[in-house]
Amino acid sequence: MTGIRELVKPDRVHRSVYLDESIFEMEMERIYGRAWIYVGHASQVPEPGDFLTTRIGRQPVVLSRHEDGEIYVLFNRCGHRGAVVCNEAHGNARHFRCCYHGWTFHLNGLIKAVPLQAGYSRDVDFDDPSLGMVRVPRTDTHRGFVFASLAPDGPTLAEYLGPMTRKIDDICDRSPAGEVEVTGGVHRYEFPGNWKAQMENLNDLYHVPHSHESTTSGGRQFRRTGTATGSRLTRKDGSPISFWDRTGVWAFDGGHSYCGRMPDAGPVSREEHPDYVAALEARLGPERAAEVLDADWHNAIIYPNLGLQSMAQHIRVIRPISVDRTEVLVYPMKLRDAPDVLNRTVIRYLNVTHAAASLIQTDDLEAFGRLQRGLPADGSEWVFLGRGLGAEQPLEDDFGYRSEGTHELPLRNQYREWLSYMGEGAN
Ligand code: FES
Ligand SMILES: [Fe+2]
Repeated sequence: MTGIRELVKPDRVHRSVYLDESIFEMEMERIYGRAWIYVGHASQVPEPGDFLTTRIGRQPVVLSRHEDGEIYVLFNRCGHRGAVVCNEAHGNARHFRCCYHGWTFHLNGLIKAVPLQAGYSRDVDFDDPSLGMVRVPRTDTHRGFVFASLAPDGPTLAEYLGPMTRKIDDICDRSPAGEVEVTGGVHRYEFPGNWKAQMENLNDLYHVPHSHESTTSGGRQFRRTGTATGSRLTRKDGSPISFWDRTGVWAFDGGHSYCGRMPDAGPVSREEHPDYVAALEARLGPERAAEVLDADWHNAIIYPNLGLQSMAQHIRVIRPISVDRTEVLVYPMKLRDAPDVLNRTVIRYLNVTHAAASLIQTDDLEAFGRLQRGLPADGSEWVFLGRGLGAEQPLEDDFGYRSEGTHELPLRNQYREWLSYMGEGAN
C-alpha cells in the first residue's frame, strides 16, 4: 500500500479505501476512535434501568439510564475477565449481570456485587471503576441526541457539530414540546459494501433520477402499491437532472454536509393542522415556525456515522462491520405532543421509502453491493469524484461551501476530513 496521503487526490480516491482491510482497521482507530460518534437518543432510555447496546466503530457499548437519572455510555465489557455483559439490543434492568461468573454492575458501570468476594485479597478495591464496566472517555448530548468519543481530548460536541446543530434543532423544533421521540421502531439492514458508500450516498443527488428512476419518474412503483404516500417524491413530468441541481449542496468542516429540500417536499398543511401550527408559532414565533415546517434541507450528514432526514423524518445510524460489510439503522423521529396523524404518517412513509424491502432503499443497496464487486476489477485503481470541482462557492455566514445539487462536493468534503483523521502522523 502506498502512503495514506497518496490515496486521496482533489478529484479522486484510490479504490483501496473501500477494499483494504488494514485501511478499515485504521479507520476504526483513527476516525471512529477520535470523532464524536452518535450513540442513541435519550428517549430510547427514558426510565432508570433502561438501556440499549450499540457500537462505536467496533467497540461494543451500552447506553444506560442510571437511578440518578443520568445517561451513561459504558464499554460493554465485564471488568472481571472481559466478557460482553449486555447481550440484548435494549431493555430495562435493575443491574447488569455478567453471564460468566456473575459479577454485577450498576447502570453507571460501577461494581454492585462480586460473588464470593471473600476469596479476593483485601487490597483489591472493588470501587475502582476500571474493575467495572468502564465509561467511555467523553459523552455529551444535544437535545437528547447522545454522542460519545473514545478520545479523552478533542473539540467539544458543540464545536464538533458546528452549523449542523441547527439541523438537529430544526427537527426538534417541529415538536410543540421541542423534543423528538425515537420510539417508533427501527429498520435495520446490512449491505455487502463499505460504510463510506452509505455516507457518500446520502448527499449524492446525482444518483437520484437514475438509481431511483422508478420512483422519481412518475412514481410507477408507488402507484402500483395503491398508496398516495409516495406522491411527495414523484413528478408527473419526470425529474430532469437540472431539477436536482437546483436543490444545492452545502459542505462544512468536520466532513458534515446537507443537501437542499427535495423538489416536491411540501410543508405540513396549515389548513389540516391549525392547532399544531398555532402551538409551534406560540413557542417559536411565526418566522422560526415557518422555517422548521418548510425546512430548506433534505439530508444532513454528521460525519462519520449519522444522517438526519427532514422529509422522511428519521435518524440513520451507520455501523461499520468490516471493510465490505455495513449495518444501517433507520429510526423514525416522532414529534412529542404533535398530532398522532402526523407521527403515524412519518412511520408509514418511512416503511414505504426506507425499510430494507422498501421501494427506494433497495435501489441504493443494490448500488452499494455493485460498487464493492466492481472496484476490484482491473482497468483503473481510482474512483472519480470530480463533478463540480472548482464550482464551490464559499458561504458568507458559516465556514463552508455551496455547490449545485448534483456536484460531488459533499463526497470530496468527506475525504478531506478522512485524510485529516487518517493522515495524522502518516507518511
Ligand atoms: S468475565 Fe464477567 S464475571 Fe467473569
Ligand atoms: Fe438513494
